[in-house]
Amino acid sequence: MAQADIGLIGLGTMGSALALNIAEKGFSVAVWNRTTSKTHAFVAEAGDLATRITATETLEDLAAALKGPRAIVLMVPAGQPVDDQIEALDPYLDADDLIIDAGNANFRDTMRRMEALERPFLGIGVSGGEDGARHGPAIMGGGDPDHWARVEPILTAIAANYEDTPCADLMGENGAGHFVKAVHNGIEYADMQLIAETYGVMRDGLAMEAPQVGDVFAEWNTGRLSSFLIETSAKVASAHDAATDGPLLEVIVDAAGQKGTGRWTAIEAQHLGTPIPVIEAAVAARNMSALRDLRADLAETFGGTQKIDIPIDILERALTCGKILCYAQGFDMLRAAADAFDWSLKPEVIARNWRAGCIIRSSMLDDMAEAFEAAPGATLMAAPYFSDILSETISALRDTVIAANRAGLPVPAMSAALSYFDTMRQARGTANMIQGQRDYFGLHGFVRLDTGDKDQHGPWADD
Ligand code: 6PG
Repeated sequence: MAQADIGLIGLGTMGSALALNIAEKGFSVAVWNRTTSKTHAFVAEAGDLATRITATETLEDLAAALKGPRAIVLMVPAGQPVDDQIEALDPYLDADDLIIDAGNANFRDTMRRMEALERPFLGIGVSGGEDGARHGPAIMGGGDPDHWARVEPILTAIAANYEDTPCADLMGENGAGHFVKAVHNGIEYADMQLIAETYGVMRDGLAMEAPQVGDVFAEWNTGRLSSFLIETSAKVASAHDAATDGPLLEVIVDAAGQKGTGRWTAIEAQHLGTPIPVIEAAVAARNMSALRDLRADLAETFGGTQKIDIPIDILERALTCGKILCYAQGFDMLRAAADAFDWSLKPEVIARNWRAGCIIRSSMLDDMAEAFEAAPGATLMAAPYFSDILSETISALRDTVIAANRAGLPVPAMSAALSYFDTMRQARGTANMIQGQRDYFGLHGFVRLDTGDKDQHGPWADD
């Protein structure tokens, strides 16, 4: 008897957590996993929730277990596995059955699949890690509003809430949900990198022990920097390692992993021609972190860093400033993508969606939502609330970057944020020199500042 409200394929960490979340919210869910023993073990461990979970052993069984028109969530690794899964599932589905890819897909793949598939398809970004998936993620949908409406009651029920508003929204057509999720991850990379650099200044510049750094982050988490990532960093810095009887942070290898979403954001920003230098710096920093042997060799050749003297409250202001600038870049990129892909992305909806459940949730996002409600088309840097904070904190970012640079402490994301700020508030830049160079060697032409005349050329000094 077909009973289940929704199907779910892929019982990895995120898929299992999502299935339990769906069952807990009162919906029945039929699950399938490539390894059948895992499916049965999952249901056996589901406790009271098992009454709302149906284990299925074949894709045919899964299809048979679902109410029509069916809705099936895919929680499988991004890329080819998604295509393979769709192909394997397709023969058992009816024409109007809906497939929902809830993994971290590249939005271009989502657009391709939507174009190619002759059935309803949604691409949804799900953020919040395992705990979020289990108890309330932020959900960023992309696709046809009618298809979204079919699963909206389930998605809003399982999503995180911010003051009774569910963080589950249809962001726009086709790939919009996965695009917004990628930009979320780009900001996630940048925010994490800015925090890591601040930790570096405290560790190497101020000779602070990890637990002291943890105390500082915990204190900052009670103020305007309050966010999941600062709270996480406080806990990471404070953790104790029984084996060494010292900070756990000290025994973690300093090479960051990455699954690719931050890199995709940087690549797409280049396609769009939109500047996101803080996010790009964060991706590059992860790449540099992986070059451990080379870094060790070069440390031998060039020597290490020096101590600095900088007050902790300056670092708090520097981090606040860098954070606002990286969010500003992320939202500017979303605006550029909305134009390029003809999506009706609404920055205030995105900011509201990110207020709870997701990895970059932060107390600032509510203020960002308000700023975008007042002026949806404007950069965050121009919003009065944030321009006041930038004016108040930019000198701290500058002092931190200068002190770190002088001592040889790397702060690539902070430096990128500072240069971005300085570039964007420079009414007369230096690209007149670039245009002169381009015309000199390639006759590319320039526009005259005084007359506005286009396609102008030298004569140049040696003509
Ligand atoms: C989230 C996260 C998540 C991401 C991990 C790891 O929003 O829940 O963004 O989707 O996969 O944070 O990402 P990296 O391996 O690229 O660091």
